[in-house]
Amino acid sequence: MPQKYKVYVTSPRIPKQALERLGRFAEITVHPDRPITKNELISVVQNFDGVLALLRDRFDAEVLSHATRLRVISNYAVGYDNIDIQKATGKGIWVTNTPDVLSNATAELAIALMFSVARRLLEADQFLRQGKFRGWEPDLFLGIELAGRTFGLLGAGRIGTLTALKAYGLGMRVVYFSRKRNLLLEAQTGAKKLDLESLLETADVVSIHLPLTPETHHLLDLTRLQKMKPGALLINTGRGPIIDEKALVQVLREGRLAGAGLDVYEFEPEVTPELLEFPNVVLLPHIGSATHRARNAMAEVAVENLIHALQGQRPPSLVNPEVLGTP
Ligand code: GLV
Ligand code: GLV
Repeated sequence: MPQKYKVYVTSPRIPKQALERLGRFAEITVHPDRPITKNELISVVQNFDGVLALLRDRFDAEVLSHATRLRVISNYAVGYDNIDIQKATGKGIWVTNTPDVLSNATAELAIALMFSVARRLLEADQFLRQGKFRGWEPDLFLGIELAGRTFGLLGAGRIGTLTALKAYGLGMRVVYFSRKRNLLLEAQTGAKKLDLESLLETADVVSIHLPLTPETHHLLDLTRLQKMKPGALLINTGRGPIIDEKALVQVLREGRLAGAGLDVYEFEPEVTPELLEFPNVVLLPHIGSATHRARNAMAEVAVENLIHALQGQRPPSLVNPEVLGTP
């Protein structure tokens, strides 16, 4: 019987059941309940075979350059922009994520944000809590009705596609921007693929579901945000840096948009302070996948990935298959 593998878990808040399963394959060390520091991460890549990581843990080129022992990073997220994939691959480190199991939860949150902004739910709730509700009024919190409007999808991957299907179910017309055509989406909703500029000029709701890459960083800059239809809504449950937050503040000041719903931020966990001033902006603390069902399933997938990788078997959701070398 070989020695047990050593795995570092960077948060004590990962669902217990999955960790118990992992405990049968590996000796687990759990980080205390605070973000891990760069120096601690460096020590992890030197002393552990595997790490179960959160999207706030930054495995940049410098951290990974210290990796002498690490063989697998199992990211407890679908996105993996917190990891320098090229560097990891160069070091022979397998990187895995948790796709699919969180798609519906995230799509539901995007729809929830869309309604929260369109019907001014948080403003209305505040108003009531402040004791201002004196009875039904003809003009109290008038909002935007979504059926018949155009839903503009940025990124037609798994989460984006599910969100667009739900929007279609609400009676919205779907247009999308994506590198590749999505024939399933087109067949199910009649969605039209547009270039980015045409989408921004057409959509009443723009919802972001792209991964963060050098190509999507500040994809929505001032020029593009100013192309959005007057009175449109902007929803972001993808990654913060896809929007230039300073530019967003400017277009909100100009009153161009009816509002925005954000779950992610350019400088997370910092939020551009000016955003807090707008009553028509709903701000959530990155909770897209935060359902009991999704988080438990993510833990199962993350552990399954770790167990496979530690045993030298291809994990179910390997992000960098190049690491296996050319067959
Ligand atoms: C959440 O943002 C994720 O990437 O899972
Ligand atoms: C107003 O009712 C709107 O839907 O924009």
